[in-house]
Amino acid sequence: MTVLVTGAAGFIGYHVSLALLRRGDRVVGVDNLNEYYSVALKQSRIEALRPHNGFAFHRLDFADDALLKDTLRDSGIDRIVHLGAQPGVRYSIDHPMAYAKSNLVGHLAMLELARHTPGLRHFVYASSSSVYGGNEKLPFAEADPAEHPVSLYAATKRADELMSDAYAHLYGFPQTGLRFFTVYGPSGRPDMAVWLFTEALFDGRPIRLFEDGRLLRDFTYVDDIVSGVIAVLDGPPAGDRPHRIYNIGNNRPERVTRLVELIEQAADRKAVTVSAPMQPGDVPATYADIDAIRRDHGFEPKTPLEVGVPRFVDWYRKWRGL
Ligand SMILES: NC(=O)c1ccc[n+]([C@@H]2O[C@H](COP(=O)([O-])OP(=O)(O)OC[C@H]3O[C@@H](n4cnc5c(N)ncnc54)[C@H](O)[C@@H]3O)[C@@H](O)[C@H]2O)c1
Repeated sequence: MTVLVTGAAGFIGYHVSLALLRRGDRVVGVDNLNEYYSVALKQSRIEALRPHNGFAFHRLDFADDALLKDTLRDSGIDRIVHLGAQPGVRYSIDHPMAYAKSNLVGHLAMLELARHTPGLRHFVYASSSSVYGGNEKLPFAEADPAEHPVSLYAATKRADELMSDAYAHLYGFPQTGLRFFTVYGPSGRPDMAVWLFTEALFDGRPIRLFEDGRLLRDFTYVDDIVSGVIAVLDGPPAGDRPHRIYNIGNNRPERVTRLVELIEQAADRKAVTVSAPMQPGDVPATYADIDAIRRDHGFEPKTPLEVGVPRFVDWYRKWRGL
């Protein structure tokens, strides 16, 4: 099996690529290594993938549909895991066009590639829990309304789901969208709370807590995400309009203050916190109903925050040489 993984230099794309290579699949990785966060971190992930047999990498922008098709014409891919995107709720307030390019034009270019790939078995792509906007009914279930996003990022992810649905109807190739819930773990993303809090703690700076840390997040460990992505990849949907959307989360929301406690324990340091008001685009709680992915793909999150946070902190110390 040859899998095209977009965003292979990204946090989740790197972990998914590694797991696919370890089980003997070939991986064609694509990423433009953009400067949204440390390019050195992205490069280090690609360097960690390179020694594996069956890994090829192309540095390109997947929103360039002609270049994408030319580059991948003879690559022999039969499945696609599309994880590349412009992520981040807060950045979308000041940089909306980056989201239009990577998440709208980019997603469409990937769909075009998929429909022109003969014998493509499955197109799996990343959506986000943010599509639920400010919904108050918890946990969030796939059948709940997702028509009122509170950030442009969320709007682009919902648009991706709708574009995919139209393509499943028009061209009939199997697709699955995964709504990820706050993923964290080693080699994580420097713009997310787990990293930012750990960095502040080691640098002796105060940790900024929105709403005094009362926000609830369904923190999901990256290895659990990887198991879910691969189980889904191996089970394409069938039928007339072969497109499914699943939540993939830990199914256990935690207060952000609990995250701080666990980082303090793992780092063996006491944090100073300052409170800040909730940011535009943020939501008070995320909580995944995972009955559907559990039923259809046997997904079962196995890593509580108490186990995952120390693993991240260990990795972070090594990365910083602390
Ligand atoms: N990490 C989370 O908690 C989370 C939550 C919900 C959804 N998601 C989604 O999961 C996917 C993976 O997220 P991540 O956390 O690994 O993010 P990431 O930023 O670490 O990875 C995304 C990668 O895509 C690449 N990229 C962006 N635009 C590109 C383009 N036009 N052409 C080529 N490469 C491009 C970036 O360079 C980056 O390496 C994204 O679609 C994201 O929106 C992530």
